[in-house]
Amino acid sequence: MTTKELATTVQGTISKPPKKGWLYAPSPEGTDHFRLKPRYELFVGGKWVEPQSGKYFPTINPATETVIAEVAEANAEDVDRAVKAARKAYHKVWSKMKPAERGKYVYRIARRIQERARELAVVETLDGGKPIKESRDVDVPLAAAHFFHYAGWADKLEYAFAGRRARPIGVAGQVIPWNFPLLMAAWKLAPALACGNTVVLKPAETTPLTAMILAEIMQECELPEGVVNIVTGAGATGAAIVDHPDIDKIAFTGSTGVGKRIQRAVAGTKKRVTLELGGKAANIVFADAAIDQAVEGIINGIYFNQGHVCCAGSRLLVEESVHDLLVRKLTRRIETLRVGDPLDKNTDVGAINSKMQLEKIQELVAHGVSEGCQIHQSRAQLPSRGYFFAPTFFTGVAQSHRIAQEEIFGPVLSVITFRTPDEAVEKANNTQYGLSAGIWTDKAAKVFWMAKRMRAGVVWANTFNKFDATSPFGGFKESGFGREGGRAGLAPYLADAGSFASARSFVEAE
Ligand code: NAI
Ligand code: MG
Repeated sequence: MTTKELATTVQGTISKPPKKGWLYAPSPEGTDHFRLKPRYELFVGGKWVEPQSGKYFPTINPATETVIAEVAEANAEDVDRAVKAARKAYHKVWSKMKPAERGKYVYRIARRIQERARELAVVETLDGGKPIKESRDVDVPLAAAHFFHYAGWADKLEYAFAGRRARPIGVAGQVIPWNFPLLMAAWKLAPALACGNTVVLKPAETTPLTAMILAEIMQECELPEGVVNIVTGAGATGAAIVDHPDIDKIAFTGSTGVGKRIQRAVAGTKKRVTLELGGKAANIVFADAAIDQAVEGIINGIYFNQGHVCCAGSRLLVEESVHDLLVRKLTRRIETLRVGDPLDKNTDVGAINSKMQLEKIQELVAHGVSEGCQIHQSRAQLPSRGYFFAPTFFTGVAQSHRIAQEEIFGPVLSVITFRTPDEAVEKANNTQYGLSAGIWTDKAAKVFWMAKRMRAGVVWANTFNKFDATSPFGGFKESGFGREGGRAGLAPYLADAGSFASARSFVEAE
């Protein structure tokens, strides 16, 4: 079912078209200040090398469906070359280098990301479809912040975990998704490098380009060859990394299905593993909350980056007495979201990352309608080309509905009511996931009471989707394990972080 068809299936719940006053003149970000190569090879041993596979695949701009560039498809042989380069660099250079010297390289990478920030932001938006204001104000600055943060740790690892020796693990294989391509690369590379590990990184097949620029940055920073290797490809390339016998540690962010497969693949091997998987976070709004502020948080929680956020606030739990008021306000607010050209500085909701993802969203939304939930959808006019989906929310959702349980990974919110704090806790935790939660109330005591009972790695109070390089991030239950960010983010890359190596015990010990 298309968005348009969906919109006409449920009469009376759709907001009115926007008034003229809300329209803005187009303000597209320029694309003439940099030049992408038409074709990218693999980055192995500090050089660009042609793939043994001889194969290349295109990456498209999901907002226009046009090809931007093609990238090499690494096969198992290519991955083997990358692992060998990483192993050599580990033994010969990186693990032997003085930690303070390593820190200087990591710092230099952070500076170079800042210098190439505008280019990185535009390429991120072109390749992945996210609004430029997000790639410019969130993804790129946070990526630089993570390198800065871990540059500072490199020579202080002895102080990170008292009484433990700070030894690296070896070669890390890192597989990342398409929702925050540069930022996920930074989350993985910065702590690994600071701790003295070398890396084989694979970006997602729909968004490889900022990782290619990152490879150029590694060259510009004169990072010793082989310390960072970047191979492109899809699931088979990722699996070749996971299965390679000379990898010591796997770090993965992506779907829960693939995460489980990886866990099975490394069982019984020497490989350590950290997984950051899906989520179905609850944003919990109490009647005593500042409602307008909560509306902004809810909007940011689910429509930010088209809902392509593992910790998106995709379930709204609202205290029954304010349900109608909140729904009225949300209905009005989604109408003001500007959906369209991701390069336009006014755009709030950009393109869905791929056709496959759009179809998944459409299928789940159609299912919500068929289950009898009430759909509320913005009447924003969607561009005729590219993959777009209008901001949507459902009311009348029961916990058993698929749209209340499955990760939609799109701009779609499910609204559920509760009457007491106990009921809110029970409903919030009633999910296979446990990545994040949001609590909206003007009572600090209620925040603490709730936060203690949430089975979620991150709990935001009166805000949502706020990130900081100093703050650990990670999941409970099927949202995975291991922490990224802050001091906790060092543990997965040190051989002897002791009990801190287990992320959960780290969190509980803090
Ligand atoms: P995915 O898990 O297939 O992709 C993530 C990364 O894993 C990509 O780099 C991919 O090439 C790689 N990969 C795929 N199969 C692999 C395998 N067998 N071994 C090793 N690496 C492998 O996710 P996909 O299919 O792109 O998205 C499907 C759903 O996953 C989304 O609809 C969303 O619900 C969820 N997702 C969650 C993310 C998160 O941040 N937690 C990120 C991306 C997707
Ligand atoms: Mg792309």
